[in-house]
Amino acid sequence: MSAVRKFRAPGRVNLIGEHTDYNGGFVFPAALDRATTVCAAQRPDRKVLVRSLQYPGTVEFDLDHIVRQGDWADYVRGVALQLELAGYRLQGANLEIDGDVPLGAGLSSSAALEVSTALALSSLAGHRIPRQELALLCQRAESEFVGLRCGIMDQYIACFAQEGKALVIDCRSLESRAVALPPQLCLMICNTMVRHELTGSEYNRRREDCEAAASYFGVPALRDIDLKNFERYSGGLEDRIRRRCRHVVTENARVLAAEKSLAAGDAQEFGRLMVESHASLRDDFEVSCPELDLMVELALECQGVYGARMTGGGFGGCTVNLVEAHQAAAIRERIAQQYRQRTAIQPEIYLCLPSAGCHEVLA
Ligand code: GLA
Repeated sequence: MSAVRKFRAPGRVNLIGEHTDYNGGFVFPAALDRATTVCAAQRPDRKVLVRSLQYPGTVEFDLDHIVRQGDWADYVRGVALQLELAGYRLQGANLEIDGDVPLGAGLSSSAALEVSTALALSSLAGHRIPRQELALLCQRAESEFVGLRCGIMDQYIACFAQEGKALVIDCRSLESRAVALPPQLCLMICNTMVRHELTGSEYNRRREDCEAAASYFGVPALRDIDLKNFERYSGGLEDRIRRRCRHVVTENARVLAAEKSLAAGDAQEFGRLMVESHASLRDDFEVSCPELDLMVELALECQGVYGARMTGGGFGGCTVNLVEAHQAAAIRERIAQQYRQRTAIQPEIYLCLPSAGCHEVLA
């Protein structure tokens, strides 16, 4: 029996910059102190046996015959396939998956699963894959194998996150800048506990709308359009596509403005940009839902909240809130109570301590 090794990759919260990554734009995520872990032991054959403490049963597949099955283990299969296609020959393994990233809550439990699995399978086979390549292979597993045409944000932050910091990522050049959060502020995540079924299909549809807008402007991606050009030349776009485009253009500008405001210690301005981002996602990009809108509204009624917005793909899941650290407990209490009263749903509320990216956990 070969030794068991343990690998870890975090979930994430995005402070600002939503639906911009697949447009070659800017995002501003931080890794959560919640992660997926994979305990992995080598096998002498080419079989992979996967057990998850979050799902019943054991899944088994052969590295020489990887086929999509439509279940959660597709993330594992997809990653194994992409590693092999990239020339990293793998060995069979027994994997035990566990974790505390809430599933399907827009906190990137899938990227955490992909990246921790990719790190486990590649390390077990003796490969050291550069982090950027690892992130890109995991993204490809999700878009080509699972079928959600996601951007690079979630896998990138799971690979490159730094403790105590958020990263401004340029999703075209794949360069990033780490920004520390001032100690008097904290990130509060409010989980609406709802997930609307639209997620996958609507996500891909948004992406198509953005591609249609980019092709109208004759640019490779909407990253190449600024507000001035948008206002000048967008008149010929049909209304829906024009609004999708306006979201992306204004959101990219907001990320860069948010980075500046944080560097200048201006939490008010950062919060204002978050609120604008939410309105744009709700009205122009149409990926919010009543529960997310309510959660934002309730937060903004509290003393000590600078800003609130939905985070992640949307249609349910979580909001992210920039709050005064010393008022966090009272804010949490109040939002939970009001949300419960208005929806009869008990929300979950977490504080995010920005954590490091994926790594092997050494005993
Ligand atoms: C999901 C995707 C990301 C990104 C966000 C929206 O989390 O996986 O690539 O597009 O939605 O910002």
